[in-house]
Amino acid sequence: MNTETHTCSLLIDNELFSFDVVGAFFIGESETLYKSKGNILEKTDWEKEGYKIVSIFDDNEMTSLITSVKENIFKGLQLAGAEVSKKQFKIEDYHKYITNDDQHLKVIHHTRSLTNKDFKVDFENLALKFSEHTNTKLTSYIKELKSSHIQIRISRPNSLDINPPHRDGYLSYWKNILNVWIPIAGCNKNSSLPLIPESHLIPENKIIRTNSKGAYINGNQYYVPCIIKTTDGDFKMIRPNPKEKEALIFSPFLIHGAAVNKNKNITRVALELRFDKKEA
Ligand SMILES: [Fe+2]
Repeated sequence: MNTETHTCSLLIDNELFSFDVVGAFFIGESETLYKSKGNILEKTDWEKEGYKIVSIFDDNEMTSLITSVKENIFKGLQLAGAEVSKKQFKIEDYHKYITNDDQHLKVIHHTRSLTNKDFKVDFENLALKFSEHTNTKLTSYIKELKSSHIQIRISRPNSLDINPPHRDGYLSYWKNILNVWIPIAGCNKNSSLPLIPESHLIPENKIIRTNSKGAYINGNQYYVPCIIKTTDGDFKMIRPNPKEKEALIFSPFLIHGAAVNKNKNITRVALELRFDKKEA
């Protein structure tokens, strides 16, 4: 496969957004990777859409989550050598302390691969709450990884701090999990995570994508395969835009990403959790 540059064009809530992706692209086989039988979504009434907004946190839980996220980002700021005190630091103002890409990469190196131990939050208790929306018992322990996995997503204003459109389910350890996206700061209709409803049901012979670790945006390599379009054309994405104390839950095969932050002077921060099925 030859590496080429493709312009990925997509509509997000009817507004055009495009960026260049470098990689080797291919179309898959005539198979649908999402399997209903045994799936976490199997017993839900939102399986066809592939996603749902759920009202999930009480005030105390939300405060604990935000406090822990802030502490983890602050640790990243210190690792990047940013000059700000813990007292002064506001999550939405992140871009005022982190002023170049090198510093930002140092921060996300820390915030991209966290576990339960990095948070003062009872994730097993949260897993129980999410279980009520899937009618399947969930746990934060991911079997194949033999650990939990939590990621803080930071997107500065006027930046390409985005993942390309993708499906987490292409990576084997995410195939059978539930994706959870939680707004923490600066999340609104200009910055919330875009997705394509029902896209977990699109067969592989309609998907044009790279391999894992095969896509580069702005010189940055991405772990997940990048999907640039389907054989039907460019993507039409929507931002479901969950509010504070809500979460967006979705299938790992639902196409999502390109969460460009169009706010002028606010950094957007979201928390990504993943839940596996709890063995009986
Ligand atoms: Fe993802």
